Amino acid sequence: MDSSLPTAQTNSPAGEAARRDTLTITDNRTGRSYEIPITHDTIRANDLRQIKVNSSDFGMMSYDPAFSNTASCVSRITYIDGDAGILRYRGYPIEELAEKSTYLETAYLLLRGELPSSAQLKEWQYHVTHHTFIHESIKKFLDGFHYDAHPMGMLTSTIAALSTFYPDAKHIFDATSRLKQTYRLIGKMPTIAAFSYRHTLGMPYVYPDNDLSYPGNFLNMLFRTSETRYRPNPTLEKALDVLFILHADHEQNCSANTIRGVGSSHVDPFSASAAAISALYGPLHGGANEEALRMLTEIGSIKKVPEFIQKVKAGEKKLMGFGHRIYKNYDPRARIIKQIAYEVFELMGKNPLLEIALECERIALEDDYFVKRKLYPNVDFYTGLIYQSMGFPTTMFPVLFAIPRMSGWVAQWEEMLLDSEQKIARPRQVYLGQQTRNYVPIEERG
Ligand code: ACO
Repeated sequence: MDSSLPTAQTNSPAGEAARRDTLTITDNRTGRSYEIPITHDTIRANDLRQIKVNSSDFGMMSYDPAFSNTASCVSRITYIDGDAGILRYRGYPIEELAEKSTYLETAYLLLRGELPSSAQLKEWQYHVTHHTFIHESIKKFLDGFHYDAHPMGMLTSTIAALSTFYPDAKHIFDATSRLKQTYRLIGKMPTIAAFSYRHTLGMPYVYPDNDLSYPGNFLNMLFRTSETRYRPNPTLEKALDVLFILHADHEQNCSANTIRGVGSSHVDPFSASAAAISALYGPLHGGANEEALRMLTEIGSIKKVPEFIQKVKAGEKKLMGFGHRIYKNYDPRARIIKQIAYEVFELMGKNPLLEIALECERIALEDDYFVKRKLYPNVDFYTGLIYQSMGFPTTMFPVLFAIPRMSGWVAQWEEMLLDSEQKIARPRQVYLGQQTRNYVPIEERG
């Protein structure tokens, strides 16, 4: 582990001479003790391997299904304190970035580690903007999907297909190639997402307009009809940009872990990103925004909220958009999103589902079931209401999550590639299946 990381805080009294940063483990099977180093409040799982009953023993492993207490990497990108409800990108609080930054500037920060100078930002925006067009054959590829294909499925497949258009992307240890693929991935995500949406409507694709901002151009490609020049509404353009900032990265979540795991096989970044998008698609991850809106629609009225909450408490339903593996406090993104919701509703009219959402939140925050389990609204609880008011169908919600998350995925992928401690990801298992047995011919099987 890289010792240049800031030392983790300890609560040992100052001047405690006998203090050692080690852990002593006694194996009661053998009576032997082992002293294991602690770095950054962490022990290395491989240090457990010396704990053996005899010399032919494989050695001790740690068992951690779903990685709930296992650090799989050292990272310098995103910091979350789930108990305090804190989220920072490269040290900058999410609240400050949401208020003062733009999505493209934040993407630069995530990828490069520092906020850009104005010349660096200009260059970065130029290159991302000039990689928004897609090969004409990709349009034909999209045409092959059914009219009712889920846009997330179209996005996954099309991003995977990009690896066939850009075979140079295989040069993953060439920094110039990595940068080129980064421009392509971040630049083309809104285009492919918008084209997928237009395909479901049977409407002609709208080509990117390089004079518009990143979110403004996305709105153009989605919603432009007969106008000669599309002008995005500034409130919606700003709201989308802030939502993009809030979704840009979230440390070692399911999809970040996926891009690191798949990328550790040294496959090209388009194939690895397609895997990350698939991970995000699931209803327990980025697909939760779609499910949350379906749930609010199903509840239907404020009067029915208590009945629905009862079903959740009885284990018959899940309150989608609630709960988080890391946050045991209010998700700081949900707080900002709630604010954006009111700004969008002022322009577009209040979403009738808002009252139901607020009532669910009110009851849940007071109810012992949710309080005891520390279940709070997460990023997905209110986003659906905003997206719906902006005119997006529910199937586009996870796509709206995936577009900005691409910058976080690429940052996580590149950090993994350049980390000399990382190797192909390959967990161990605890095998509890059958031991050796002989093959039985079919006619002799009972
Ligand atoms: N509704 C009702 N009960 C819940 C919910 C929920 N949304 N979330 C967790 N619980 C309960 C569990 O049933 C469990 O109860 P128990 O202790 O009686 O068995 C307890 O709270 C702990 O939950 P776990 O499932 O162990 O928590 P975990 O960290 O594994 O799961 C997750 C986190 C997947 C986000 C979960 O809270 C969930 O399914 N939420 C709904 C889906 C959702 O909103 N996902 C988006 C997450 S944010 C993101 O990925 C962008």
